[in-house]
Amino acid sequence: MTERERWVTRWGLILAMAGNAIGLGNFLRFPVQATQNGGGAFMIPYFVALFLLAVPLMWCEWAMGRYGGLRGHGTTPGIFALLWRHPVSKYLGVLGVFLPIGVVIYYTYIESWTLAYSFFSLLGQYAGVTTREGMSEFLASYQGLNHTFFAGQYVAYVFFVLTIGLNWWILGQGVARGIERLALIAMPVLFLFAIILVVRVFTLGAPDPAHPDQHVLSGLGFIWNPDFSRLGDAKVWLAAAGQIFFTTSVGWGAIQVYASYMKERSDVAVTGLSTVMTNEVAEVILGGSIAIPIAFAFFGSAATIEIAQSGSFNLGFASMPVIFQFLPMGNLLGMLWFLLLFLAALTSSVALTQPLVAFLQDELNVSRRRAVFISVLTVFVGAQIPIFGLKGGALDEMDFWCGTFGVALFALIECIIFVWLFSPEKAWAEIHKGAQVKLPRLFLFVLKYVTPLYLSALFIAWAWQQGPAVLSMEGAAPEDMAWRWAARLLMLGLIGVLCLLTAVAWRRVDRKLPPHRTVPHRTVMEKP
Ligand code: TRP
Repeated sequence: MTERERWVTRWGLILAMAGNAIGLGNFLRFPVQATQNGGGAFMIPYFVALFLLAVPLMWCEWAMGRYGGLRGHGTTPGIFALLWRHPVSKYLGVLGVFLPIGVVIYYTYIESWTLAYSFFSLLGQYAGVTTREGMSEFLASYQGLNHTFFAGQYVAYVFFVLTIGLNWWILGQGVARGIERLALIAMPVLFLFAIILVVRVFTLGAPDPAHPDQHVLSGLGFIWNPDFSRLGDAKVWLAAAGQIFFTTSVGWGAIQVYASYMKERSDVAVTGLSTVMTNEVAEVILGGSIAIPIAFAFFGSAATIEIAQSGSFNLGFASMPVIFQFLPMGNLLGMLWFLLLFLAALTSSVALTQPLVAFLQDELNVSRRRAVFISVLTVFVGAQIPIFGLKGGALDEMDFWCGTFGVALFALIECIIFVWLFSPEKAWAEIHKGAQVKLPRLFLFVLKYVTPLYLSALFIAWAWQQGPAVLSMEGAAPEDMAWRWAARLLMLGLIGVLCLLTAVAWRRVDRKLPPHRTVPHRTVMEKP
Protein backbone atom coordinates (compact mmCIF):
# COMPACT_ATOMS: atom_id res chain seq x y z
CA MET A 1 0.00 0.00 0.00
CA THR A 2 1.40 3.37 -0.92
CA GLU A 3 0.74 6.24 1.41
CA ARG A 4 -2.42 8.23 0.91
CA GLU A 5 -2.08 11.41 -1.08
CA ARG A 6 -2.26 14.68 0.85
CA TRP A 7 -2.94 18.33 0.23
CA VAL A 8 0.37 20.13 0.54
CA THR A 9 -0.74 23.51 1.85
CA ARG A 10 -3.69 24.83 3.79
CA TRP A 11 -4.33 27.34 1.04
CA GLY A 12 -4.28 24.53 -1.46
CA LEU A 13 -6.96 22.69 0.49
CA ILE A 14 -9.11 25.80 0.83
CA LEU A 15 -8.83 26.76 -2.83
CA ALA A 16 -9.36 23.19 -4.01
CA MET A 17 -12.51 22.93 -1.91
CA ALA A 18 -13.64 26.34 -3.17
CA GLY A 19 -12.91 25.22 -6.71
CA ASN A 20 -14.92 22.09 -6.10
CA ALA A 21 -17.94 24.15 -5.10
CA ILE A 22 -17.58 27.15 -7.41
CA GLY A 23 -18.67 26.15 -10.87
CA LEU A 24 -21.26 26.60 -13.55
CA GLY A 25 -23.77 26.50 -10.73
CA ASN A 26 -22.60 29.88 -9.46
CA PHE A 27 -22.48 31.83 -12.69
CA LEU A 28 -25.00 30.11 -14.94
CA ARG A 29 -27.46 28.14 -12.82
CA PHE A 30 -27.87 30.62 -9.97
CA PRO A 31 -28.93 33.62 -12.08
CA VAL A 32 -31.39 31.50 -14.02
CA GLN A 33 -32.87 29.89 -10.91
CA ALA A 34 -33.10 33.17 -9.03
CA THR A 35 -34.80 34.87 -11.97
CA GLN A 36 -37.20 32.02 -12.65
CA ASN A 37 -38.26 31.94 -9.03
CA GLY A 38 -38.96 35.57 -8.43
CA GLY A 39 -35.60 37.08 -7.41
CA GLY A 40 -36.14 38.42 -3.93
CA ALA A 41 -38.67 35.65 -3.31
CA PHE A 42 -36.01 33.04 -4.06
CA MET A 43 -33.33 34.43 -1.80
CA ILE A 44 -35.17 33.77 1.48
CA PRO A 45 -35.59 29.99 1.06
CA TYR A 46 -32.13 30.01 -0.49
CA PHE A 47 -30.46 31.27 2.69
CA VAL A 48 -32.66 29.07 4.86
CA ALA A 49 -31.46 26.03 2.90
CA LEU A 50 -27.88 27.26 3.12
CA PHE A 51 -27.90 27.41 6.91
CA LEU A 52 -30.16 24.46 7.70
CA LEU A 53 -28.96 22.03 5.04
CA ALA A 54 -25.67 22.89 3.42
CA VAL A 55 -23.66 24.26 6.33
CA PRO A 56 -24.45 21.47 8.83
CA LEU A 57 -24.07 18.76 6.20
CA MET A 58 -20.84 20.28 5.00
CA TRP A 59 -19.35 19.88 8.49
CA CYS A 60 -20.48 16.26 8.49
CA GLU A 61 -18.95 15.62 5.09
CA TRP A 62 -15.62 17.19 6.00
CA ALA A 63 -15.49 15.24 9.25
CA MET A 64 -16.57 11.99 7.57
CA GLY A 65 -14.02 12.42 4.82
CA ARG A 66 -11.14 13.08 7.19
CA TYR A 67 -12.25 10.16 9.38
CA GLY A 68 -12.35 7.82 6.38
CA GLY A 69 -9.15 9.09 4.84
CA LEU A 70 -7.18 8.36 8.00
CA ARG A 71 -8.43 4.80 7.73
CA GLY A 72 -7.74 4.42 4.02
CA HIS A 73 -11.21 5.13 2.65
CA GLY A 74 -11.97 8.35 0.80
CA THR A 75 -15.33 7.50 -0.72
CA THR A 76 -18.66 6.85 0.94
CA PRO A 77 -18.87 3.07 0.37
CA GLY A 78 -15.83 2.69 2.61
CA ILE A 79 -16.72 5.56 4.92
CA PHE A 80 -20.30 4.42 5.54
CA ALA A 81 -19.04 0.91 6.24
CA LEU A 82 -16.78 2.35 8.93
CA LEU A 83 -19.47 4.49 10.49
CA TRP A 84 -22.26 1.94 10.43
CA ARG A 85 -21.17 -1.65 10.47
CA HIS A 86 -24.03 -3.14 8.58
CA PRO A 87 -23.64 -5.04 5.30
CA VAL A 88 -25.93 -2.63 3.49
CA SER A 89 -24.08 0.56 4.40
CA LYS A 90 -21.39 0.20 1.73
CA TYR A 91 -24.08 -0.17 -0.94
CA LEU A 92 -25.79 2.98 0.24
CA GLY A 93 -22.40 4.62 -0.08
CA VAL A 94 -22.27 3.63 -3.75
CA LEU A 95 -24.57 6.58 -4.38
CA GLY A 96 -21.76 8.90 -3.29
CA VAL A 97 -19.63 7.66 -6.17
CA PHE A 98 -22.44 7.35 -8.67
CA LEU A 99 -24.00 10.81 -8.27
CA PRO A 100 -20.87 12.81 -9.06
CA ILE A 101 -20.14 10.61 -12.07
CA GLY A 102 -23.73 10.91 -13.22
CA VAL A 103 -23.40 14.68 -13.11
CA VAL A 104 -19.94 14.99 -14.62
CA ILE A 105 -21.07 12.97 -17.64
CA TYR A 106 -23.16 15.93 -18.79
CA TYR A 107 -21.31 18.66 -16.88
CA THR A 108 -18.13 18.14 -18.90
CA TYR A 109 -20.06 18.62 -22.11
CA ILE A 110 -21.38 22.01 -20.97
CA GLU A 111 -17.89 22.84 -19.73
CA SER A 112 -16.61 22.24 -23.25
CA TRP A 113 -19.12 24.74 -24.66
CA THR A 114 -17.64 27.43 -22.45
CA LEU A 115 -14.18 26.67 -23.77
CA ALA A 116 -15.44 26.82 -27.35
CA TYR A 117 -17.30 30.07 -26.72
CA SER A 118 -14.17 31.71 -25.29
CA PHE A 119 -12.53 31.14 -28.65
CA PHE A 120 -15.64 32.18 -30.56
CA SER A 121 -15.77 35.44 -28.60
CA LEU A 122 -12.13 36.26 -29.08
CA LEU A 123 -12.13 35.39 -32.76
CA GLY A 124 -15.44 37.10 -33.48
CA GLN A 125 -17.04 33.85 -34.61
CA TYR A 126 -20.51 35.09 -33.76
CA ALA A 127 -19.82 38.76 -34.52
CA GLY A 128 -22.81 40.34 -36.21
CA VAL A 129 -25.33 37.98 -34.63
CA THR A 130 -26.82 40.69 -32.48
CA THR A 131 -30.24 39.36 -31.59
CA ARG A 132 -31.11 36.90 -28.87
CA GLU A 133 -32.96 34.77 -31.39
CA GLY A 134 -29.86 34.74 -33.57
CA MET A 135 -27.59 33.68 -30.72
CA SER A 136 -30.04 30.98 -29.62
CA GLU A 137 -29.92 29.69 -33.15
CA PHE A 138 -26.12 29.82 -33.00
CA LEU A 139 -26.11 27.74 -29.81
CA ALA A 140 -28.56 25.24 -31.24
CA SER A 141 -26.45 25.00 -34.35
CA TYR A 142 -23.33 24.41 -32.27
CA GLN A 143 -25.19 21.64 -30.49
CA GLY A 144 -26.02 20.07 -33.83
CA LEU A 145 -29.71 20.94 -33.86
CA ASN A 146 -29.63 23.02 -37.04
CA HIS A 147 -27.13 23.78 -39.79
CA THR A 148 -27.31 27.57 -39.94
CA PHE A 149 -23.90 28.24 -38.43
CA PHE A 150 -22.24 24.84 -38.10
CA ALA A 151 -22.44 22.00 -40.60
CA GLY A 152 -22.59 19.42 -37.85
CA GLN A 153 -21.61 18.63 -34.32
CA TYR A 154 -17.90 18.29 -35.17
CA VAL A 155 -16.74 21.49 -33.57
CA ALA A 156 -18.63 20.74 -30.39
CA TYR A 157 -17.19 17.25 -30.35
CA VAL A 158 -13.63 18.45 -30.80
CA PHE A 159 -13.98 20.86 -27.89
CA PHE A 160 -15.48 18.09 -25.82
CA VAL A 161 -12.51 15.84 -26.52
CA LEU A 162 -10.14 18.69 -25.63
CA THR A 163 -11.97 19.27 -22.36
CA ILE A 164 -11.92 15.58 -21.44
CA GLY A 165 -8.22 15.46 -22.31
CA LEU A 166 -7.48 18.38 -20.02
CA ASN A 167 -9.40 16.77 -17.16
CA TRP A 168 -7.53 13.54 -17.76
CA TRP A 169 -4.18 15.28 -17.67
CA ILE A 170 -4.91 17.17 -14.45
CA LEU A 171 -6.35 14.16 -12.63
CA GLY A 172 -3.44 12.05 -13.78
CA GLN A 173 -1.04 14.35 -11.94
CA GLY A 174 -2.71 13.46 -8.68
CA VAL A 175 -4.17 15.38 -5.79
CA ALA A 176 -1.28 17.70 -4.94
CA ARG A 177 0.36 18.18 -8.32
CA GLY A 178 -2.86 18.15 -10.32
CA ILE A 179 -5.92 19.27 -8.41
CA GLU A 180 -4.21 21.47 -5.84
CA ARG A 181 -1.98 23.21 -8.35
CA LEU A 182 -4.91 23.80 -10.67
CA ALA A 183 -6.84 25.42 -7.81
CA LEU A 184 -3.91 27.61 -6.80
CA ILE A 185 -3.74 29.00 -10.33
CA ALA A 186 -7.34 28.91 -11.51
CA MET A 187 -9.12 30.28 -8.46
CA PRO A 188 -7.32 33.63 -8.22
CA VAL A 189 -7.68 34.09 -11.99
CA LEU A 190 -11.36 33.26 -11.75
CA PHE A 191 -11.93 35.83 -9.02
CA LEU A 192 -10.00 38.43 -10.98
CA PHE A 193 -12.10 37.84 -14.11
CA ALA A 194 -15.30 37.92 -12.12
CA ILE A 195 -14.36 41.19 -10.43
CA ILE A 196 -13.48 42.80 -13.77
CA LEU A 197 -16.86 41.78 -15.15
CA VAL A 198 -18.72 43.00 -12.09
CA VAL A 199 -16.99 46.38 -12.27
CA ARG A 200 -17.86 46.61 -15.95
CA VAL A 201 -21.50 45.79 -15.21
CA PHE A 202 -21.73 48.32 -12.38
CA THR A 203 -20.30 51.10 -14.52
CA LEU A 204 -22.94 50.58 -17.20
CA GLY A 205 -25.70 52.57 -15.55
CA ALA A 206 -28.57 52.69 -18.01
CA PRO A 207 -26.84 51.81 -21.29
CA ASP A 208 -29.84 52.13 -23.59
CA PRO A 209 -30.74 55.80 -24.23
CA ALA A 210 -34.15 54.70 -25.47
CA HIS A 211 -34.84 53.04 -22.10
CA PRO A 212 -33.41 55.23 -19.34
CA ASP A 213 -35.46 53.24 -16.83
CA GLN A 214 -33.52 50.05 -17.55
CA HIS A 215 -30.69 50.41 -15.07
CA VAL A 216 -28.28 47.78 -13.75
CA LEU A 217 -29.48 48.68 -10.28
CA SER A 218 -32.96 47.44 -11.09
CA GLY A 219 -31.47 44.00 -11.65
CA LEU A 220 -29.81 44.12 -8.25
CA GLY A 221 -33.02 45.34 -6.68
CA PHE A 222 -34.83 42.39 -8.21
CA ILE A 223 -32.66 39.93 -6.29
CA TRP A 224 -32.06 41.87 -3.12
CA ASN A 225 -35.47 43.28 -2.26
CA PRO A 226 -37.00 40.52 -0.19
CA ASP A 227 -40.34 39.43 -1.55
CA PHE A 228 -42.46 37.56 0.95
CA SER A 229 -45.41 37.06 -1.34
CA ARG A 230 -44.24 33.78 -2.82
CA LEU A 231 -43.01 32.14 0.38
CA GLY A 232 -46.03 29.86 0.35
CA ASP A 233 -45.04 28.41 -3.01
CA ALA A 234 -43.43 24.98 -2.55
CA LYS A 235 -41.83 25.23 -5.97
CA VAL A 236 -39.64 28.12 -4.83
CA TRP A 237 -38.49 26.20 -1.75
CA LEU A 238 -37.63 23.15 -3.82
CA ALA A 239 -35.75 25.17 -6.38
CA ALA A 240 -33.82 27.00 -3.66
CA ALA A 241 -32.78 23.79 -1.91
CA GLY A 242 -31.84 22.27 -5.25
CA GLN A 243 -29.65 25.24 -6.04
CA ILE A 244 -27.96 25.08 -2.63
CA PHE A 245 -27.06 21.42 -3.12
CA PHE A 246 -25.82 22.03 -6.62
CA THR A 247 -23.71 25.04 -5.86
CA THR A 248 -22.12 23.99 -2.57
CA SER A 249 -21.33 20.45 -3.83
CA VAL A 250 -22.81 19.19 -0.57
CA GLY A 251 -24.88 16.01 -0.70
CA TRP A 252 -22.96 14.14 -3.40
CA GLY A 253 -20.18 12.30 -1.66
CA ALA A 254 -17.57 14.48 -3.35
CA ILE A 255 -16.61 16.71 -0.41
CA GLN A 256 -15.69 13.59 1.58
CA VAL A 257 -13.19 12.64 -1.09
CA TYR A 258 -11.37 15.97 -0.95
CA ALA A 259 -11.54 15.95 2.86
CA SER A 260 -10.01 12.48 2.94
CA TYR A 261 -6.70 13.98 1.81
CA MET A 262 -6.50 16.16 4.93
CA LYS A 263 -4.14 15.72 7.82
CA GLU A 264 -5.42 14.24 11.04
CA ARG A 265 -5.52 17.28 13.24
CA SER A 266 -6.50 19.92 10.75
CA ASP A 267 -9.53 22.00 11.48
CA VAL A 268 -12.79 21.35 9.68
CA ALA A 269 -15.12 23.70 11.56
CA VAL A 270 -13.67 27.01 10.39
CA THR A 271 -12.03 25.85 7.18
CA GLY A 272 -15.18 24.12 5.99
CA LEU A 273 -17.31 27.12 6.77
CA SER A 274 -14.93 29.48 5.03
CA THR A 275 -15.00 27.50 1.80
CA VAL A 276 -18.81 27.43 1.82
CA MET A 277 -18.82 31.16 2.39
CA THR A 278 -16.30 31.67 -0.40
CA ASN A 279 -18.71 29.82 -2.65
CA GLU A 280 -21.54 32.07 -1.50
CA VAL A 281 -19.53 35.20 -2.24
CA ALA A 282 -18.81 33.83 -5.68
CA GLU A 283 -22.46 33.00 -6.13
CA VAL A 284 -24.61 35.77 -4.74
CA ILE A 285 -22.12 38.65 -4.88
CA LEU A 286 -20.25 37.88 -8.09
CA GLY A 287 -22.62 35.46 -9.86
CA GLY A 288 -25.60 37.60 -8.89
CA SER A 289 -23.97 40.80 -10.14
CA ILE A 290 -23.14 39.82 -13.69
CA ALA A 291 -25.79 38.11 -15.79
CA ILE A 292 -28.96 39.37 -14.11
CA PRO A 293 -28.17 43.10 -13.82
CA ILE A 294 -26.64 43.27 -17.29
CA ALA A 295 -29.67 41.56 -18.81
CA PHE A 296 -31.98 43.90 -16.89
CA ALA A 297 -30.06 46.88 -18.21
CA PHE A 298 -30.16 45.77 -21.83
CA PHE A 299 -33.44 43.92 -22.15
CA GLY A 300 -35.55 45.09 -19.20
CA SER A 301 -37.10 43.05 -16.45
CA ALA A 302 -39.89 41.31 -18.33
CA ALA A 303 -37.60 40.08 -21.09
CA THR A 304 -34.97 38.91 -18.60
CA ILE A 305 -37.51 36.79 -16.78
CA GLU A 306 -38.67 35.42 -20.10
CA ILE A 307 -35.08 34.55 -21.06
CA ALA A 308 -34.58 32.69 -17.80
CA GLN A 309 -37.83 30.79 -18.30
CA SER A 310 -36.95 29.84 -21.85
CA GLY A 311 -34.12 27.46 -20.95
CA SER A 312 -31.13 27.00 -18.69
CA PHE A 313 -28.55 28.11 -21.20
CA ASN A 314 -30.12 31.07 -22.96
CA LEU A 315 -29.02 33.63 -20.42
CA GLY A 316 -25.35 32.65 -20.45
CA PHE A 317 -24.88 31.50 -24.03
CA ALA A 318 -27.36 33.58 -25.99
CA SER A 319 -28.04 36.83 -24.12
CA MET A 320 -24.57 37.56 -22.80
CA PRO A 321 -22.84 37.33 -26.21
CA VAL A 322 -25.43 39.69 -27.65
CA ILE A 323 -24.87 42.22 -24.89
CA PHE A 324 -21.08 42.10 -25.17
CA GLN A 325 -21.31 43.03 -28.82
CA PHE A 326 -22.82 46.37 -27.82
CA LEU A 327 -19.92 47.16 -25.52
CA PRO A 328 -16.46 48.47 -26.36
CA MET A 329 -13.92 45.63 -26.39
CA GLY A 330 -16.86 43.28 -26.43
CA ASN A 331 -14.95 40.31 -27.73
CA LEU A 332 -12.49 40.54 -24.85
CA LEU A 333 -15.33 40.82 -22.35
CA GLY A 334 -17.03 37.86 -23.98
CA MET A 335 -13.85 35.84 -23.77
CA LEU A 336 -13.47 36.81 -20.12
CA TRP A 337 -17.00 35.67 -19.37
CA PHE A 338 -16.62 32.29 -21.02
CA LEU A 339 -13.13 31.69 -19.65
CA LEU A 340 -14.49 32.49 -16.21
CA LEU A 341 -17.14 29.84 -16.76
CA PHE A 342 -14.57 27.41 -18.08
CA LEU A 343 -12.19 27.76 -15.13
CA ALA A 344 -15.07 27.47 -12.71
CA ALA A 345 -16.29 24.34 -14.49
CA LEU A 346 -12.85 22.75 -14.76
CA THR A 347 -12.12 22.89 -11.03
CA SER A 348 -15.55 21.32 -10.48
CA SER A 349 -15.33 18.60 -13.10
CA VAL A 350 -12.10 17.24 -11.64
CA ALA A 351 -13.83 17.21 -8.25
CA LEU A 352 -16.76 15.33 -9.74
CA THR A 353 -14.51 12.69 -11.29
CA GLN A 354 -12.16 12.18 -8.36
CA PRO A 355 -14.67 10.11 -6.32
CA LEU A 356 -14.56 7.31 -8.88
CA VAL A 357 -10.78 7.59 -9.06
CA ALA A 358 -10.48 7.38 -5.28
CA PHE A 359 -12.98 4.51 -5.10
CA LEU A 360 -10.95 2.44 -7.54
CA GLN A 361 -7.72 3.28 -5.74
CA ASP A 362 -8.93 2.79 -2.17
CA GLU A 363 -11.26 -0.15 -2.55
CA LEU A 364 -9.82 -2.07 -5.48
CA ASN A 365 -6.13 -1.17 -5.17
CA VAL A 366 -6.03 0.10 -8.74
CA SER A 367 -3.02 2.34 -9.43
CA ARG A 368 -3.69 6.04 -9.82
CA ARG A 369 -2.88 6.11 -13.51
CA ARG A 370 -5.23 3.27 -14.26
CA ALA A 371 -7.93 4.58 -11.95
CA VAL A 372 -7.83 7.94 -13.70
CA PHE A 373 -7.89 6.29 -17.10
CA ILE A 374 -10.88 4.11 -16.24
CA SER A 375 -12.76 7.04 -14.72
CA VAL A 376 -12.14 9.44 -17.57
CA LEU A 377 -13.04 6.75 -20.07
CA THR A 378 -16.30 6.15 -18.21
CA VAL A 379 -17.13 9.83 -18.43
CA PHE A 380 -16.18 9.94 -22.10
CA VAL A 381 -18.25 6.94 -23.09
CA GLY A 382 -21.20 7.93 -20.91
CA ALA A 383 -21.19 11.46 -22.29
CA GLN A 384 -22.11 10.21 -25.76
CA ILE A 385 -25.68 9.91 -24.51
CA PRO A 386 -26.19 13.54 -23.40
CA ILE A 387 -24.11 14.75 -26.37
CA PHE A 388 -26.17 13.03 -29.03
CA GLY A 389 -29.38 12.84 -27.06
CA LEU A 390 -29.40 16.48 -26.01
CA LYS A 391 -32.54 17.26 -27.94
CA GLY A 392 -34.13 14.05 -26.75
CA GLY A 393 -33.80 15.29 -23.18
CA ALA A 394 -31.09 12.85 -22.05
CA LEU A 395 -29.29 15.67 -20.22
CA ASP A 396 -32.44 16.76 -18.41
CA GLU A 397 -33.19 13.19 -17.46
CA MET A 398 -29.77 12.76 -15.88
CA ASP A 399 -29.98 16.16 -14.26
CA PHE A 400 -33.25 15.29 -12.56
CA TRP A 401 -32.24 11.88 -11.23
CA CYS A 402 -28.72 12.77 -10.18
CA GLY A 403 -28.97 16.50 -9.59
CA THR A 404 -32.34 16.80 -7.87
CA PHE A 405 -33.73 13.50 -6.68
CA GLY A 406 -30.48 11.66 -5.97
CA VAL A 407 -28.83 14.43 -4.06
CA ALA A 408 -31.72 14.87 -1.62
CA LEU A 409 -31.85 11.12 -1.06
CA PHE A 410 -28.13 10.82 -0.51
CA ALA A 411 -27.99 13.83 1.80
CA LEU A 412 -30.67 12.22 3.94
CA ILE A 413 -28.84 8.89 4.02
CA GLU A 414 -25.48 10.40 4.96
CA CYS A 415 -27.06 12.54 7.64
CA ILE A 416 -28.76 9.56 9.26
CA ILE A 417 -25.68 7.38 9.06
CA PHE A 418 -23.27 9.96 10.43
CA VAL A 419 -25.45 11.61 13.02
CA TRP A 420 -27.73 8.82 14.18
CA LEU A 421 -26.10 5.49 13.42
CA PHE A 422 -22.55 6.58 14.19
CA SER A 423 -24.05 8.43 17.18
CA PRO A 424 -24.70 12.13 17.70
CA GLU A 425 -21.96 12.60 20.28
CA LYS A 426 -19.33 10.82 18.22
CA ALA A 427 -20.31 12.83 15.17
CA TRP A 428 -20.11 16.07 17.11
CA ALA A 429 -16.72 15.10 18.56
CA GLU A 430 -15.43 14.17 15.11
CA ILE A 431 -16.42 17.59 13.75
CA HIS A 432 -14.56 19.23 16.63
CA LYS A 433 -11.36 17.25 16.36
CA GLY A 434 -8.63 19.82 15.74
CA ALA A 435 -11.28 22.53 15.46
CA GLN A 436 -10.24 26.14 15.92
CA VAL A 437 -13.57 27.05 17.45
CA LYS A 438 -16.34 25.39 19.36
CA LEU A 439 -19.51 25.39 17.28
CA PRO A 440 -22.77 26.35 18.94
CA ARG A 441 -24.53 23.22 20.16
CA LEU A 442 -27.58 24.48 18.36
CA PHE A 443 -26.09 22.97 15.24
CA LEU A 444 -26.10 19.52 16.81
CA PHE A 445 -29.81 19.95 17.34
CA VAL A 446 -30.18 21.09 13.73
CA LEU A 447 -28.23 18.05 12.55
CA LYS A 448 -30.21 15.62 14.63
CA TYR A 449 -33.69 16.86 13.83
CA VAL A 450 -34.02 19.83 11.54
CA THR A 451 -31.81 18.73 8.65
CA PRO A 452 -33.21 15.17 8.35
CA LEU A 453 -36.80 16.38 8.62
CA TYR A 454 -36.21 19.15 6.13
CA LEU A 455 -34.61 16.65 3.76
CA SER A 456 -37.42 14.16 4.15
CA ALA A 457 -39.93 16.88 3.36
CA LEU A 458 -37.97 17.91 0.28
CA PHE A 459 -37.53 14.40 -0.85
CA ILE A 460 -41.21 13.61 -0.54
CA ALA A 461 -42.19 16.85 -2.23
CA TRP A 462 -39.86 16.18 -5.14
CA ALA A 463 -41.00 12.61 -5.51
CA TRP A 464 -44.58 13.82 -5.33
CA GLN A 465 -44.47 16.95 -7.46
CA GLN A 466 -42.06 15.98 -10.20
CA GLY A 467 -41.50 12.25 -9.79
CA PRO A 468 -44.58 10.96 -11.63
CA ALA A 469 -44.17 13.37 -14.54
CA VAL A 470 -40.50 12.54 -14.92
CA LEU A 471 -41.03 8.84 -14.37
CA SER A 472 -43.66 8.60 -17.06
CA MET A 473 -41.72 10.97 -19.35
CA GLU A 474 -44.79 13.15 -19.63
CA GLY A 475 -45.02 14.96 -22.92
CA ALA A 476 -41.93 13.35 -24.45
CA ALA A 477 -42.05 12.54 -28.15
CA PRO A 478 -41.53 8.85 -29.00
CA GLU A 479 -38.07 9.48 -30.47
CA ASP A 480 -37.11 11.35 -27.31
CA MET A 481 -38.20 8.45 -25.15
CA ALA A 482 -35.40 6.34 -26.62
CA TRP A 483 -32.78 8.87 -25.51
CA ARG A 484 -34.31 9.24 -22.11
CA TRP A 485 -34.30 5.48 -21.72
CA ALA A 486 -30.70 5.37 -22.84
CA ALA A 487 -29.88 7.87 -20.10
CA ARG A 488 -31.74 5.76 -17.55
CA LEU A 489 -30.04 2.56 -18.59
CA LEU A 490 -26.71 4.30 -18.37
CA MET A 491 -27.44 5.44 -14.83
CA LEU A 492 -28.77 2.05 -13.78
CA GLY A 493 -25.80 0.38 -15.41
CA LEU A 494 -23.37 2.60 -13.54
CA ILE A 495 -25.07 1.87 -10.23
CA GLY A 496 -25.06 -1.84 -11.02
CA VAL A 497 -21.38 -1.94 -11.89
CA LEU A 498 -20.44 0.10 -8.82
CA CYS A 499 -22.42 -2.25 -6.57
CA LEU A 500 -20.73 -5.21 -8.15
CA LEU A 501 -17.29 -3.69 -7.67
CA THR A 502 -18.18 -2.93 -4.07
CA ALA A 503 -19.20 -6.54 -3.52
CA VAL A 504 -15.93 -7.70 -5.05
CA ALA A 505 -13.89 -5.23 -3.01
CA TRP A 506 -15.39 -6.33 0.26
CA ARG A 507 -14.75 -9.94 -0.51
CA ARG A 508 -11.02 -9.53 -1.02
CA VAL A 509 -9.05 -11.60 1.40
CA ASP A 510 -6.18 -9.19 1.61
CA ARG A 511 -8.26 -6.18 2.50
CA LYS A 512 -7.87 -4.40 5.76
CA LEU A 513 -10.29 -5.56 8.42
CA PRO A 514 -12.91 -3.15 9.69
CA PRO A 515 -10.78 -0.51 11.37
CA HIS A 516 -13.06 -0.34 14.37
CA ARG A 517 -11.19 -3.41 15.48
CA THR A 518 -7.72 -2.83 14.15
CA VAL A 519 -7.29 0.87 14.69
CA PRO A 520 -8.81 1.90 17.97
CA HIS A 521 -11.09 4.80 17.36
CA ARG A 522 -10.16 7.83 19.36
CA THR A 523 -12.75 10.37 20.25
CA VAL A 524 -11.97 13.77 21.61
CA MET A 525 -13.44 14.21 25.02
CA GLU A 526 -15.72 17.14 25.08
CA LYS A 527 -14.89 19.80 27.55
CA PRO A 528 -17.80 20.48 29.86
N1 TRP B 1 -20.87 22.84 -7.35
C1 TRP B 1 -20.63 22.74 -8.75
C2 TRP B 1 -21.08 24.01 -9.43
O1 TRP B 1 -21.52 24.93 -8.80
C3 TRP B 1 -21.29 21.56 -9.40
C4 TRP B 1 -21.33 20.33 -8.59
C5 TRP B 1 -22.45 19.70 -8.20
C6 TRP B 1 -20.26 19.62 -8.07
N2 TRP B 1 -22.11 18.62 -7.47
C7 TRP B 1 -20.79 18.55 -7.34
C8 TRP B 1 -18.88 19.81 -8.13
C9 TRP B 1 -19.98 17.66 -6.70
C10 TRP B 1 -18.07 18.92 -7.47
C11 TRP B 1 -18.61 17.85 -6.76
O2 TRP B 1 -21.02 24.10 -10.62
